[in-house]
Amino acid sequence: MEQTLSIIKPDAVAKGVIGKILDRFESNGLKIAAMKKVQLSRQDAEAFYAVHAARPFFNDLVDFMVSGPVVITVLEGENAILKNRDLMGATNPKEAAPGTIRADFAENIDANAVHGSDSAENAAIEIAFFFSGREIS
Ligand code: PPS
Repeated sequence: MEQTLSIIKPDAVAKGVIGKILDRFESNGLKIAAMKKVQLSRQDAEAFYAVHAARPFFNDLVDFMVSGPVVITVLEGENAILKNRDLMGATNPKEAAPGTIRADFAENIDANAVHGSDSAENAAIEIAFFFSGREIS
């Protein structure tokens, strides 16, 4: 069984689609192994996205991620990382396949509803960033 980190971003939380997004995960064989709703600090967001610090959109991304609460989950299942990326759809919602979370719930690339770990290495780092071992079951 593989684990991955998902974040339901501030735009989707504000829209009231937390439950609909969680249903996509559970209906597609991804178990919610841990979950919390938090308001990220600027320090949290800058550290989480440090790998993108040199990219031109970094400040916009941090501003957006602290603009309201997020829901952070650890998803668990067979091929959880790839399965979650498939359910999310392309980073730019305008390019996301019909029926994906971003096609259905996101407006644009600045506010694209969800984050998902992109590799096993990053999943382990991202899960440890937000959760202790005893919070995951
Ligand atoms: S990906 O999926 O990580 O490969 O996508 P990538 O293009 O590398 O983007 C990394 C994260 O930055 C966000 N992003 C943006 N935010 C604001 N403005 C612009 N223009 C922009 N382009 C990309 C993108 O949503 C990714 O966020 P996460 O949370 O990792 O999905």
